[in-house]
Amino acid sequence: MLIIMGNKLSYFKFLKKKRNKPNYGNYIIKVNDLQIDRIQQMHHILKVCCNNKNFFSPISNDLSRGIKVLDVGAGPGTWIFDMSSDYRKSEFTGIEIQSFMLPTIHPLNTSFKNVDILKGLPFSPNSFDFIHMRCMVLCFTEQQYEQIVRELVDLLKPNGYLELSEPELCSRNMGPICERFSIGVRDILSSKSMDPFVNEKLGTLLNDFGLQEINQEEVELPLSELDGNIGALYGETTFNGLIGLKDELANQMNLTSNEIDSLINDYREEIKSRRMYNKYTRVYGRKIIG
Ligand SMILES: C[S@@+](CC[C@H](N)C(=O)[O-])C[C@H]1O[C@@H](n2cnc3c(N)ncnc32)[C@H](O)[C@@H]1O
Repeated sequence: MLIIMGNKLSYFKFLKKKRNKPNYGNYIIKVNDLQIDRIQQMHHILKVCCNNKNFFSPISNDLSRGIKVLDVGAGPGTWIFDMSSDYRKSEFTGIEIQSFMLPTIHPLNTSFKNVDILKGLPFSPNSFDFIHMRCMVLCFTEQQYEQIVRELVDLLKPNGYLELSEPELCSRNMGPICERFSIGVRDILSSKSMDPFVNEKLGTLLNDFGLQEINQEEVELPLSELDGNIGALYGETTFNGLIGLKDELANQMNLTSNEIDSLINDYREEIKSRRMYNKYTRVYGRKIIG
């Protein structure tokens, strides 16, 4: 190897690059500290907007008794940390592609695994009573999303619940700048065979893969400070999301770096003066055998 690389310095550079090269999977936002903060903030926004409930499935009694739970695309583990302190008898496993995001210190009833879901799930069939997957619309192609749901159904124990939640990528009562971004994001996803409207298909997906007792709810996420602190916080979160997508958006919308910066700042002003909101869909289904 040393001979091939020519000299020691380039050999070490090669090794460093190889070790540090992050695997983002298909996630179109490159995760950095700002994006980790955004993911954590989003957890609290969703919790508040969903009446302080971290899940929609009818499993609180089972969680209190003690069951096995999987969180898919766990990010920095915010949902798991919250859930594991509410339900100490249950065991929570989080899987996440980014090793640097995984918490190294965590409660005893939690574990985290560095897994790229697209390369397969390292669990036996019938392993979990409850599987939770949230906000993964920017991570999988339409086909991959379906394939993952199919695999998650296999991992469910009989009578277990699978819960999927996704936000809508366009807003209600959009202003002109928000509309431009909404079209931009939709076009990026479509160009990558990702489905910008996956939130509308979650119930059908669960049904197609044989789950029963399917239930769905729509929650409104306000984007403007005109709707109070939670609106201001969610507005800021979507602004930071646009920053994470900046390069992709500039490319898709044919804008220079300065133009995209200025449009993202205009978006921030637009949401201050216009009551917009996003729909957030939560769906669960149960694996009933026989
Ligand atoms: C928008 S974040 C959502 C985090 C978490 N589900 C939540 O709602 O708080 C998407 C997460 O999925 C992770 N991810 C993307 N592709 C993945 C893959 N192929 N395998 C495992 N995790 C993945 C990303 O690194 C990121 O942490």
